[in-house]
Amino acid sequence: MTLDEILEARRSVRGYASQPVKEEGIKAIFESARVAPSACNSQTWRFIAVTDRALIQKITQDGMLPVIRNAWIATAPLVIVGCAQLDILANRVGSLVTGIEYYQIDLGIAMEHMVLKATELGLGTCWIGWFNEKKIKEILEIPKTIKVLALLTVGYPKDTDVNLVKKRKPVEEIFYRDKWKGR
Ligand SMILES: Cc1cc2nc3c(=O)[nH]c(=O)nc-3n(C[C@H](O)[C@H](O)[C@H](O)COP(=O)(O)O)c2cc1C
Repeated sequence: MTLDEILEARRSVRGYASQPVKEEGIKAIFESARVAPSACNSQTWRFIAVTDRALIQKITQDGMLPVIRNAWIATAPLVIVGCAQLDILANRVGSLVTGIEYYQIDLGIAMEHMVLKATELGLGTCWIGWFNEKKIKEILEIPKTIKVLALLTVGYPKDTDVNLVKKRKPVEEIFYRDKWKGR
């Protein structure tokens, strides 16, 4: 697949077939994140690949926030938990000076690498931001010093027959030339 084809094919998948993700697939997805850029090359990201069915069930049942329960997560054969190591000096100093939380950017880039790699492998993904961090840390025994920033479900899409039209703002609304032109 070309990059354009991968970008076009990627969409949020919220229902998975029971087929597991092969170990080579998990490895390839992790490798795609490992080579991502990060501020000062500090590589603050850490990931947990959860494949244990009981743990995925617990994440779904106890790890979500109210209202949007994301119950379909239970169908995913793999949930990648995206974490950041907060006590890496170069990253903290940089963030204190600029006010930019680099570890969040680092993780976002690395996880999107994973999303694109998974798409290339024919896998579907969905970012999950609506979760209870405290509960996720309890379930997966993640230390206090670690920040959990995102979950990513991965698996073969169950709903292959979906509308791929992406609802997005027009280019003029989000890209300006030379100077700021928005509100
Ligand atoms: C940071 C982030 C958090 C998200 N959290 C959730 C979530 O908790 N539940 C969910 O169903 N989708 C979640 N999504 C997926 C978005 O709803 C989805 O990307 C958006 O609607 C665009 O649709 P598409 O991904 O199919 O193009 C999240 C996406 C991002 C980037």
